[in-house]
Amino acid sequence: MDIRETLKQMTLEEKIKLCSGLNFWETRAYEKYGIPSFFMCDGPSGLRKQEMERETDMLGINNSRPSTCFPAAVTTSNTWDRELLYQVGRAIGEEARDQKVSVVLGPGVNIKRNPLCGRNFEYFSEDPYQAGILSAQFIKGMQSEGVGCSIKHFACNSQEKSRLSSDSIIDERTLREIYLKAFEIAVKSADPATVMSAYNKINGVHCSDSKKLLNDILREEWGFKGLVMTDWGGMNDRILAFEAGNDLMMPGGSDYMEKEVAEAVKSGKLSQEDVDRCCERVIALALKANEVLKEEYKADYKKHHDLAVRVAESGAVLLKNDNHLLPLKKGSKILITGNMAKKVRYQGAGSSHINPVELHEPIEYLKDYDYAQGCDDYGDTTDAMLKELGEKAKEADAVVVFAGLPDRYESEGFDRDDMKMPKGHIRMIEAAARANRNTIVVLLCGSAVECDWADEVSSILYMGLSGEGTAEAVNDLLFGKANPSGKLSESWPYHYEDVVSSDSYGKTRDALYMEGIYVGYRYYDKAKKEVRWPYGYGLSYSSFELRDFRVEGSEVSVNITNTSDIEGSEVVQLYIGQKDPILHRPVKELKHFEKVFLKPQETKNVSFTLKDEDFALWDDGFKKVKGSYLIEVGTGSRQICFEEVIEVDGETVEAPAWQKGSWYENFEGKLSQSEWEKLLGKKYEPSKLIKGQFTMENTVEEMKDYSLIMKIMYKAVEKTIAKGFDGRIDYDNPDFKMMMNSSAGSPIRSLQISGGIRGGIMEGMVEMANGHLLKGILKMIRG
Ligand code: BGC
Repeated sequence: MDIRETLKQMTLEEKIKLCSGLNFWETRAYEKYGIPSFFMCDGPSGLRKQEMERETDMLGINNSRPSTCFPAAVTTSNTWDRELLYQVGRAIGEEARDQKVSVVLGPGVNIKRNPLCGRNFEYFSEDPYQAGILSAQFIKGMQSEGVGCSIKHFACNSQEKSRLSSDSIIDERTLREIYLKAFEIAVKSADPATVMSAYNKINGVHCSDSKKLLNDILREEWGFKGLVMTDWGGMNDRILAFEAGNDLMMPGGSDYMEKEVAEAVKSGKLSQEDVDRCCERVIALALKANEVLKEEYKADYKKHHDLAVRVAESGAVLLKNDNHLLPLKKGSKILITGNMAKKVRYQGAGSSHINPVELHEPIEYLKDYDYAQGCDDYGDTTDAMLKELGEKAKEADAVVVFAGLPDRYESEGFDRDDMKMPKGHIRMIEAAARANRNTIVVLLCGSAVECDWADEVSSILYMGLSGEGTAEAVNDLLFGKANPSGKLSESWPYHYEDVVSSDSYGKTRDALYMEGIYVGYRYYDKAKKEVRWPYGYGLSYSSFELRDFRVEGSEVSVNITNTSDIEGSEVVQLYIGQKDPILHRPVKELKHFEKVFLKPQETKNVSFTLKDEDFALWDDGFKKVKGSYLIEVGTGSRQICFEEVIEVDGETVEAPAWQKGSWYENFEGKLSQSEWEKLLGKKYEPSKLIKGQFTMENTVEEMKDYSLIMKIMYKAVEKTIAKGFDGRIDYDNPDFKMMMNSSAGSPIRSLQISGGIRGGIMEGMVEMANGHLLKGILKMIRG
């Protein structure tokens, strides 16, 4: 098809409509022009295809067609295995072909900025290089099947609190080096078919209509040729978005926005070319998408289940293993405890939620052993449960405790309140450990938790959220059929207070990126702070030795030997840090890694080629900075085996005047707003909630304490949502909480899109909330 010719035949209204979804998952088809529609669905760890004739939603509440539930990114990233990420991407691509889906909404590559983010389980890492490389592999795998990816959420969407209205206030260097980097790597190396703009704003501009983000950086700087779509209900200003090159508004359109766009084109405010360009990209993707689906395809779900098990095994991180307690001997006297052994936590809640093809519970594989319940579904325990556990534990050779975070603790749509595990789980672990030192904890959660009990137990096996193969993987790992080889993709601090952003994260309406580039290990290393388990850390049943480290020119080489009698894999990690930098910098940053499989006593060589960008920082552009650098190679960010200083030629940079004596240089004193403003280069004025100044940007939740009409509205929303939960208002239920946050917690303007409420009505309500009753009523009547 000659797309330009087709566009000439289409009316303006038809073109505008083409750039809005037809419904939750499909774009619009125009048979008379030969333009097909295409179907997309979540998500990052498997398909969530909701049949259109049934209830659909963006929060993973209504059931979808069965598909393989692969481990969530928390676990796939802990594999550090490029090939496995490729295979997972390809397998989801195959299932997409089977289920006639041509674009999959994932991967999610936002940075794990703070452990409390409710969606950390869906994201890869606190390190942008790791997130970029692994997500690129996933994309390449999926797109090798001809199915398009939508890399998300572009950008700075590292919290769920007020996700539709929050403003990420961030300095340019932090934006470029940390929060855009993973997207940049993936876009440049894997060419995703689409990019999904995030809900939030960055420095006052909505991602959905940011020309800087979507055009200047994504398309012009990085050369992105694909389609940009909004997150669901995340369109702010359709006119600005057309200008910025946000091609597709999802899910459905909103009549009033479409009318506004048509008027803008007619009046010359918006150019016809901007609309045409977006249409071209929608049509191009629709044509390509349909080509792929022409051929019937049957995916091998059994094979994918086996792959899911393998990934779960490879992503398991052995955090502790005193006296080589693991692997356990089959047939020894083992006590299993914890409700999660019978009802395993294997995936997160929200839009990535999958209806798995095949799911087993760990207890099915452990049924020959004794069992004590330990706790209930909610993670609560009773004295009777603990008594039973203690008595049985005393008689056992070892106790395996299944614990972590139940569903209601972490989900899309809200952040965690703290980093603690349920009290019941902690009491259960402590009771087991008191009765039997040979206690092993199988930890099932999507992000770091405080583990004050860690010293009391012998072994800890962290599974993350490891998908439908969790039961098989745990069984294989416990008894040595599989050997743990995962490494942490996020640092595990002792306590939440140790997290650099803990003072500000989630506490204000805006997201204040005060710590700048010092996220995760970049902070702990420079602050010389102990953590419970550092970034890149993980043990194995094997033992490895790194030898013969050499740096010759830009080539770094090291030999790795498996010095044990057990086959296993190790991740060789290379970090680089500038010595005495002029412009403040982290002590070191991950620049290369390689996972190596080794048979007993086998040796392999691992080599890396250093590149210019390994020495670069953002200073009004990425610059390779001249200086002395420490090249460190090891098996974790704090398990460094070798280091060597090299001299690197490059550009010279200057330190800004404010840097001397600032927190960013020496980490002394408290990270305060005034320190941060130096980095930001401007004063920060928090947005205030003032009655009389509410706009369509405010949420019902925010306005309810100032206005009766909004309070009534809030209660009405609560009641409506409760209908789907047997009439119960239940903030402990993650689905309920998520739905409340996505409605009462979203700006009034986006309710118009997702709630299908007409513009004038909402404007009228905002007037009323501002105390202008009559004006409000008039607007509502007109609306
Ligand atoms: C999520 C996206 C998801 C979309 C469609 C939104 O709520 O933020 O990640 O792809 O829904 O389900």
